[in-house]
Amino acid sequence: QVDRYLYQLRLSDDVLLDVTARFQAEMGKGLARDTSPTAAVKMLPSFVRSLPDGSEKGDFLALDLGGSQFHIHWVKEFDDGKQSSQLESKSYPTPKEVMQGNGAELFDYIADCLSDFMETKNLKHKKLPLGFTFSFPCKQTKLEEGVLLAWTKHFRVRGVQDTDVVSSLHRALQKHQDIDVDVLALVNDTVGTMMTCGYDDQRCEVGLIIGTGTNACYMEEMRHIDLVEGDEGRMCINTEWGAFGDDGALDDLRTEFDRELDLGSLNPGKQLDPGPHCHSRNLLYWVKLYICSCALLLWIVYPMETKRTMPQRPVRADEGRLCPARFAGRLHRAVGRLVPACEVRFLRSRGGSGRGAAVVAAVARRLAAQRRRLHTALAALLLPPAILWELRDKMRAELEHGLKRETQAQATVKMLPTFVRGTPDGTEKGKFLALDLGGTNFRVLLVKIKSGRRRSVQMYNKIFAIPLEIMQGTGEELFDHIVQCLADFLEYMGIKGARLPLGFTFSFPCRQASIDKGTLVGWTKGFKATDCEGEDVVDMLREAIRRRNEFDLDIVAVVNDTVGTMMTCGYEDPNCEIGLIAGTGTNVCYMEDMKNIEIVEGNEGKMCINTEWGAFGDNGCIDYIRTKYDREVDEGSLNPGKQRYEKMTSGMYLGEIVRQILIDLTKQGLLFRGHISESLRKKGIFETKFLSQIERDRLALPQVRHVLRQLGLDSTCEDSIIVKEVCAAVSTRAARLCGAGLAAVVEKKRENQGVERLQITVGADGTLYKLHPHFSRILQETVKELAPQCDVSFMLSEDGSGKGAALITAVAKRLHNVGQK
Ligand code: BG6
Ligand code: GLC
Repeated sequence: QVDRYLYQLRLSDDVLLDVTARFQAEMGKGLARDTSPTAAVKMLPSFVRSLPDGSEKGDFLALDLGGSQFHIHWVKEFDDGKQSSQLESKSYPTPKEVMQGNGAELFDYIADCLSDFMETKNLKHKKLPLGFTFSFPCKQTKLEEGVLLAWTKHFRVRGVQDTDVVSSLHRALQKHQDIDVDVLALVNDTVGTMMTCGYDDQRCEVGLIIGTGTNACYMEEMRHIDLVEGDEGRMCINTEWGAFGDDGALDDLRTEFDRELDLGSLNPGKQLDPGPHCHSRNLLYWVKLYICSCALLLWIVYPMETKRTMPQRPVRADEGRLCPARFAGRLHRAVGRLVPACEVRFLRSRGGSGRGAAVVAAVARRLAAQRRRLHTALAALLLPPAILWELRDKMRAELEHGLKRETQAQATVKMLPTFVRGTPDGTEKGKFLALDLGGTNFRVLLVKIKSGRRRSVQMYNKIFAIPLEIMQGTGEELFDHIVQCLADFLEYMGIKGARLPLGFTFSFPCRQASIDKGTLVGWTKGFKATDCEGEDVVDMLREAIRRRNEFDLDIVAVVNDTVGTMMTCGYEDPNCEIGLIAGTGTNVCYMEDMKNIEIVEGNEGKMCINTEWGAFGDNGCIDYIRTKYDREVDEGSLNPGKQRYEKMTSGMYLGEIVRQILIDLTKQGLLFRGHISESLRKKGIFETKFLSQIERDRLALPQVRHVLRQLGLDSTCEDSIIVKEVCAAVSTRAARLCGAGLAAVVEKKRENQGVERLQITVGADGTLYKLHPHFSRILQETVKELAPQCDVSFMLSEDGSGKGAALITAVAKRLHNVGQK
């Protein structure tokens, strides 16, 4: 007879997996906006976003109501580097009159017990933070507030359902003049338990209670939680899984015993997942509880795409007083068997969930303090609109200085004439070579341009590396290396014999007297080869070709990358009269009216001006927005004091600014547990590509942590949230600054043309512009804001500036031939 009864309770692994799938569907319903109101499994956001990181310290109080006993704890977290803590606790009875009386009586009773506790521990008149473990389903909108959805277990207190229990507690506490506590957190017992264990083992991300009732919580990705604003980070979800089956989803598995037990309970039809509050000594109950817990636990440790790659997921189980010894062992084994891909470790909570509630309060307090300090550190990077307008005007003034004869020599924004007088008109044709030096990649290209009806451009290119020792060696070595790469390319393309015209994109400031002459004003970015500054780079290239004595080339034009970019885009869109680079460095060129270019003869037509705006601020005019981080980056650079605007806005430096901020925050104890690792000390570890990766939308924190790990930075989830915020602050500032500069240029163009509204296209290139997830958008928004009378279209240069250099070469060659004739 016993066997017959027991048979109904035996569930095979297949059934368990089926239950898992059903539970999975229920959890999905509970998390999704449309289905959550009617979901049986409530999936309540707890507003607990962080696990303890061991830096919590101080005295905390905790109340623990809802288990078999009512406890009050006094928790002392020590700041001794060993995460030690001391717990003093007292249990108070919860008489039936209190559990089933009215709300005022319940909270008065709690306040009286707390008063008594503080009296005996000599804590009165001390201001203490308090965490409140309240083990019933509550709807929370913040950590320190919770509206009771329904009583469960033995509780049935009138007038509490649908009200905020924290306010009720506050009201009751106010009657005690001699106690001053600050209720910082309301947590479910599962959450408290997870936090208690999380204090000892930071990998603990699931909390499980199997006691008077049963429930579990776990850390969920914010982007899966529809009911809470924001996608960043994670939040602990109190599943309230006890209600699984209230909609009939488990009816086929319920036995006559389950039904009987339900009917005799305080809340028939509710909490169908068994809890021992009814017949705790009934063997059948234990078997059933064991099976269900296994099935449900499977969901928590296994499903959803975020968990697929889970390495080791420690789950702690607070088996509770009522658990028979063998229960835990069976549960662990079943989970191991059913979830072979996960190594699940169970930690037993020491100190109950009360200690965890205190930890939540401690974490809340730590995070609030941390936030304040983080905001102070990042406040210096904020650019309010008034400052942006001011910067736009300053840039405008600098552009004018560079163009005027009297001020041009001292001007920081050099406004270099390029001798490029028009954008392509489609008649360009021929076969050209191009060199593209100064960006992330050094390229050699062969460009075939066809005109007329078969108008097209075909390109073949090869990327070559330029080793650091060449970038910073001697000029001769650098140009020999360039020619070596050229030779390899000609060989590779089989065109060594042809004396092709060549356009040289050289992305550094050059003073030009004609299209094929360019004297290097000074190196920028990562280059610092000796004996080049003040020399003509075309001559240096010609000499290197002569030295090699293997082939000959006709160097027709030297162009800045901005100019090449403008030309590349201008070939498609004749309205493109501005070229922008936001890459390793930053710069802009634009078509200026000849009459405004005082240092070049003639007043007719236009000429392209290479602004070299990267040097904006080198006279100190933007020092008031530079932070200590900018100064540190500048001092550690190859050209201290130079290119101040570029150093706040371009790819080569943004990562370095981030690194400086991270070091500072770590020193303040706000990151990486105050430990500055070897990798964080390494200059240049943060490349733009990492910034772009970290800032990608909807990137789950584990992925951010993965990127950081690649950089040798071992981060917690909270660290990764902060790092992401720092990256965003730095790149947003860069984009806004760049936008302010560009607004000055387009406004100038509008005034030049004397029109009410200007329609113009900007050709844009550079890894920051192309690869960063937000830079181009923020830049464009800023231009719109600061140049409201200009309709600016942005055109991405897909083909790099080499194509533009070839087009310029084609025009120059044609004009040269005409001239010769
Ligand atoms: C490339 C151009 O596409 O972009 C180069 O061809 C230019 O001429 C470069 O210098 C700028 O971007 P980055 O990020 O490579 O410096
Ligand atoms: C640096 C160079 C400039 C170039 C820019 C973008 O600012 O000085 O010539 O255009 O980087 O590559």
